[in-house]
Amino acid sequence: MTTTALIELANVPENDARGVTIKDGARVRKFIVLRWQNETIVYRNRCPHAGTPLDWVPDRFFDRGKQNLFCTSHGASFEPDTGLCIDGPCLGDSLEKCAFEVRDGIVTLTEAL
Ligand code: FES
Repeated sequence: MTTTALIELANVPENDARGVTIKDGARVRKFIVLRWQNETIVYRNRCPHAGTPLDWVPDRFFDRGKQNLFCTSHGASFEPDTGLCIDGPCLGDSLEKCAFEVRDGIVTLTEAL
């Protein structure tokens, strides 16, 4: 099984998210590691609208009210727990969830990059 260590869970504040970039040769993969209401979730940091990362400012994934994830390119909003776009140009599409496990406090991807 392919695994990739992303980040120490302790470095992700509760009800907030951190961006992680993994470089694999020339390939760059970006992830959002989110702690939301006692749940940990990993999404690919790729907006379903135009494929860009959500965060223009590093690690700023939430809207001002800290209720939804937010894409700074064209303003799409996503439910934190499901990744569903609830407002914006990709309404009804979703962020891609990633399979992971927490090993010794490290959020570890358990799927191919
Ligand atoms: S790229 Fe995210 S809203 Fe357009």
